[in-house]
Amino acid sequence: MKILAIETSCDETAISILEIKSRDKRPVFNILSNVISSQVKVHAEWGGVVPGLAKREHEKNLPRVLKRALKKAEIVNPEKEIDFISVTQGPGLEPALWTGINFAKKLSVVWDIPLIPVNHMLGHLLAFFLKDEEFEIPKIEFPAIALLVSGGHTQIILIKTPPSGASWGKYKLIGETRDDAAGEAFDKVAKMMDLGYPGGPMISKLASSVGSSASHRIVLPRPMIDDYSKDGEFDFSFSGLKTAVLYKLKDPEIRNYERTYGRKYVKEIISKEFQQAVIDVLISKTLRASEKYKAKNIILGGGVTANKELRKQFRRQLSVTSPQTTLLMPKIKFTGDNAAMIALAGYFSKDKIKRPAKSQALKAEGNLTL
Ligand code: KG4
Ligand code: ZN
Repeated sequence: MKILAIETSCDETAISILEIKSRDKRPVFNILSNVISSQVKVHAEWGGVVPGLAKREHEKNLPRVLKRALKKAEIVNPEKEIDFISVTQGPGLEPALWTGINFAKKLSVVWDIPLIPVNHMLGHLLAFFLKDEEFEIPKIEFPAIALLVSGGHTQIILIKTPPSGASWGKYKLIGETRDDAAGEAFDKVAKMMDLGYPGGPMISKLASSVGSSASHRIVLPRPMIDDYSKDGEFDFSFSGLKTAVLYKLKDPEIRNYERTYGRKYVKEIISKEFQQAVIDVLISKTLRASEKYKAKNIILGGGVTANKELRKQFRRQLSVTSPQTTLLMPKIKFTGDNAAMIALAGYFSKDKIKRPAKSQALKAEGNLTL
């Protein structure tokens, strides 16, 4: 069986083809192609993703990304060789989502292949399974806690029951951001310091270049880290942290450092403390949720989990506080938006399948929840 997946929820136009074979009655997966065309350069000059521009770029890119994905997977007759098309239905930017959905609908009719709408966050949640070589889905013990952190979302999800039938687990959202997502905070703080878009990689690079001799420590808040209120115990808030950086940049003491040690030095120490504040909050909340629900596994997913310091500190803290809990992280290349994760999520969303004639009613859902 082969699934062709389309992802256009934000600023990556991505198409992947996933092959599923059966070995001893267990499915074995193989990513035949995983093409990503990034629009980062187009949005960089605006300091963030512009939905109208994203739509235009996706429309332009989709036909050639499809061509490359089919070629790489050595597929000559897609109408005969592809069994399902899966497409991101939401959440995401609606104008961007619609381009992928409309493209998928057309293929579904022309090739006469059923369509499976997929939740983008399920893709991030399952991304830790993806491998470059053939892979199986290992047995996972439940309950599990997932932390999904991207440019649009910061969520803690409780997965209580093991996968059954066509779907992978039952999910309950137990925490989310009340304002900015963690990735969004990275992007906005980077913009304040003229570091370009996307901000995460730049901030993490600057943070890692702070020498151990740096003697000036900037202190930023850890929003909601000790918020044990019953309502929203695992919720986040990153907008205040972003504002705290803005004030720091205007602080006379910081301006003085800037004059004495240079602008780069100030950007480095701010990046380091900002990154640490985000890491402290993400780890603390996730570990607390894991303790409360006695999680056997913690799953990470989303663009922000590419952050090396976050990965390192998560591993370290978990080994100290809860060594019996396993940390499951996606490979760095599968942390950001890609269509391989949408293909795998499609495989686990087969209960939502739509025959070609019915597929035409599919609508984008910008605020789709898990
Ligand atoms: O999952 P993703 O590719 O797209 C969305 O679904 O939003 O996540 C993109 C986000 C951006 O905000 C980007 O700045 C952030 O992930 N990001 C990082 C790093 N790499 C990407 N944040 C922190 N550290 C990184 N190394
Ligand atoms: Zn994403």
